[in-house]
Amino acid sequence: MCIKIVIYVAANLSSMFTILTGAQFGDEGKGKVIDLLAENYDVVVRFQGGDNAGHTVVVGGKKYKLHLVPSGAIFGRRLLIGPGVVLNPRVLWSEIQSLESEGIKVDIGIDAKTTIIMPYHIELDGLREKARTEKIGTTNRGIGFAYVDKIAREEVQMGDLTDQALLEAKLKEIGPAKEKAIADMGGDPTVVRYAPYIDEYLEIGKRLKDKVTDVSREINMALIEDKCVLAEGAQGAFLDVIHGTQKFVTSSFTTAGSACANLGVGPVMVDNVVGVIKAYITRVGEGPMPTELKDALGVMMREKGAEYGTTTGRARRCGWFDAVLGLKSVHLNGYTELALTKLDVLTGINPIKICVGYTLDGEELGYPPESTIDLARCKPIYEDMPGWTEDITEVKEYDDLPANARAYVERLEDLLYIEPLDNCISAVSVGPGREQTIFRDEPEE
Ligand code: GDP
Ligand code: IMO
Ligand code: MG
Repeated sequence: MCIKIVIYVAANLSSMFTILTGAQFGDEGKGKVIDLLAENYDVVVRFQGGDNAGHTVVVGGKKYKLHLVPSGAIFGRRLLIGPGVVLNPRVLWSEIQSLESEGIKVDIGIDAKTTIIMPYHIELDGLREKARTEKIGTTNRGIGFAYVDKIAREEVQMGDLTDQALLEAKLKEIGPAKEKAIADMGGDPTVVRYAPYIDEYLEIGKRLKDKVTDVSREINMALIEDKCVLAEGAQGAFLDVIHGTQKFVTSSFTTAGSACANLGVGPVMVDNVVGVIKAYITRVGEGPMPTELKDALGVMMREKGAEYGTTTGRARRCGWFDAVLGLKSVHLNGYTELALTKLDVLTGINPIKICVGYTLDGEELGYPPESTIDLARCKPIYEDMPGWTEDITEVKEYDDLPANARAYVERLEDLLYIEPLDNCISAVSVGPGREQTIFRDEPEE
């Protein structure tokens, strides 16, 4: 629980609507923070993305890797998947089964308008990526092509899976264009109307039928009934399809403002916006990352931070904390507080560098350029901070962190400039476990 949220709950101030997003390129540790926060919430809802996400929750040494089921699952909260998500029913079904086999009851609702990822979306994703001379490095989950169909109004929705006649009629209408697209790219068009998968999807639809719901209504009713709702973002600010590093982005809107539009909740209902930010930076897939370390130090960060993709297993690229991107992320999301993760990974590195500006064509920049091509040409300007060597993974109180670790956290606060400035990094994570989290300033009794 981030500290301002604790104060809010402790003061018993009616309902609360919190949006949480990734502040960098994804994999910031959102799963861990959402699991922790979920204790204080009644409902946890995913609002965008699909099973390209991989959110890790570690409880009592047991690791759960969640792709679609919201990370409030382990606390047994009401879980929702909003209509802005693109949903692979096979993945959702197997995730529910796997959690239930571990004794976790999954109380989930899926919006009837949620776009379904069909096997042909995955086929198209693979074919397109293969044909690109300059790759994006997608997760090959069919995300982009499922969103294309949503915008083109040629989607299959969750509600269609519960009705055989509806699904067959839809496939009859949109099937031929998909078959042509796949054939044109040299793929196998029979995937579009392959009977065994249609039967499987209908079977999953039957099993999920009583979970289909109106997510906007549920959330608004929960807030009216003084309940607390946490919106779980996937990916991160710079993978946003509008504000990110195009074309090296995902196909959804990953910043906080998107939660309201995707969930059907008015913006005035938002109480706080939490950013999850890593103490350094990582990226998986292609695209610019000015502070990337291509040397032994980058490899060391990857190994120490276990920086391998939760969804694809790919090695994540690692680099120094980029406060220039960080500042833009604060603006894009309107964060009211931050949870800083993986500070423990920096233990033993000296000095620790923070990127405080860029040079581009002989000019100094304090804010990222809009163009992705220009961002790729930026050279970081670094500031050195002294490191620490003490093991911090068992530290529980902020004041017990080594002085240099505190100085690092507080320097990031200065650079990211969230008002009020004191303790805007309200939680510091020093390990993957729930208990490895330090909260700043306990609330007054
Ligand atoms: P998400 O996509 O933002 O939920 O992040 P991922 O789960 O993909 O990746 C974050 C990884 O870091 C997971 O393996 C977490 O268990 C782990 N993790 C989270 N916080 C910490 C931390 O403070 N320290 C360390 N060492 N690992 C952490
Ligand atoms: P979480 O929620 C990190 C990246 C992919 C690729 C680009 C486009 O775990 O933080 P896509 O399959 O979405 O079309 O791929 O986006 N990407 C992620 N990187 N974390 C994620 O999710 C990601 N989801 C997509 O690697 O570069
Ligand atoms: Mg992840």
